[in-house]
Amino acid sequence: MYELIATVELALWFGLPAWIANSTPVVFGGGRPIDGGKLFRDGRRILGDGKTIRGLFAGVFFGTLTGLVQSFLVPCILPVLDDYITVTGEILYVLDMNWAVALLLSVGAMLGDLVGSFLKRRIGLVSGGPSPVLDQLGFILIALIVVYPLKQVQPVYVLALLLLTLFTHWVSNALGYLLGLKKNPW
Ligand code: CTP
Ligand code: MG
Repeated sequence: MYELIATVELALWFGLPAWIANSTPVVFGGGRPIDGGKLFRDGRRILGDGKTIRGLFAGVFFGTLTGLVQSFLVPCILPVLDDYITVTGEILYVLDMNWAVALLLSVGAMLGDLVGSFLKRRIGLVSGGPSPVLDQLGFILIALIVVYPLKQVQPVYVLALLLLTLFTHWVSNALGYLLGLKKNPW
């Protein structure tokens, strides 16, 4: 049982920089859109007003910062974890966060977010329109791909992270909507 909880927690731990990168633009974004207001050849916006330069940098900055803080916390977490489960080499590997891994996760998350918006505009969805799979999994999938050259966690963590992301993205969006930070609950 502790092993299962530990797997979920470790997946969360590993994905945290990507999550933070994906969620901080809602708070710190705004201003000039990345596409500069330009249209694609289909006559629709390239990315839309929802993707701003400030949001992009905020995401990468706070995601990387999160990973840096995590890397300092590892020595404190290890003894606690050791009380509950057998800390294997694989667990140590997942736990061992550093700024470079966090940077790649954050850049990947933001890239996934942009690709998602690009595809949404191509199928004619306005900014803020719902696109369940793209909105929820796009950022984490690309984050995992971008970080892969530097860090390859076992499939069980990838699976746990995808499931957790599906669930919490829904919860956080609903929360953002209720707090008045987002226009729509998706
Ligand atoms: N945001 C930002 N810059 C980014 C990403 C997000 O400023 N690179 C801010 C915008 O204010 C955006 C909000 O965060 O409206 C919510 O982000 P998201 O849901 O990703 O964008 P949407 O507005 O839903 O636009 P899209 O349909 O393109 O996903
Ligand atoms: Mg959205």
